[in-house]
Amino acid sequence: MTKFIYAAAAALLAGPAFADGHAASGDAAAGEEQFNRQCVACHIVADADGNVLAGRNARTGPNLYALAGRTLGSVEDFRYGDSIVELGEMGTVWTEENFVGYVQDPTGWLRETLDNNRARGKMAYRVRQEEEAINIYAYLATFGAEEAEGEAESN
Ligand code: HEC
Repeated sequence: MTKFIYAAAAALLAGPAFADGHAASGDAAAGEEQFNRQCVACHIVADADGNVLAGRNARTGPNLYALAGRTLGSVEDFRYGDSIVELGEMGTVWTEENFVGYVQDPTGWLRETLDNNRARGKMAYRVRQEEEAINIYAYLATFGAEEAEGEAESN
């Protein structure tokens, strides 16, 4: 009986621990390097006041500020494709899992997630390795979360 309880507890813990483990195992410093190499041609990270925190001045893709937990396709004034907006309207937010799937194959991930073979993404880029994607997510997660409260007033 005791053994069974331990096993059940371990199984319960394993789920969240695995998910968190990914977030924790993401190396933000390595992610920064990858971001500067792979993403800045199309993306910036800029706060609500317009201060560019990462990248240069690219506008091909949406601003990736405060991405963690953000609704898909929700940057105002950015002209997204229909599929990513559709998912956002269904309440989907950026988590590590969604991000890692998306950046490795934007259109493929949108098709699978929407269960629609005609879905399309406008992001014409793929991250080659899952580990790079995890690290980039860890890096992007450093923007916005802490500042969010302090900035709430200025909005
Ligand atoms: C060639 C240009 C290009 C490159 C390079 C690129 N992206 Fe994108 N990205 C886009 C475009 C365009 C979109 C909008 C997609 C849509 O509307 O379907 C986008 C959307 C996104 C989104 C969705 C954001 C939201 O507001 O929901 C994420 C996340 C993202 N890109 C991450 C990345 C990361 C990380 C990299 C680097 C590994 C990267 N992108 C490289 C063009 C690019």
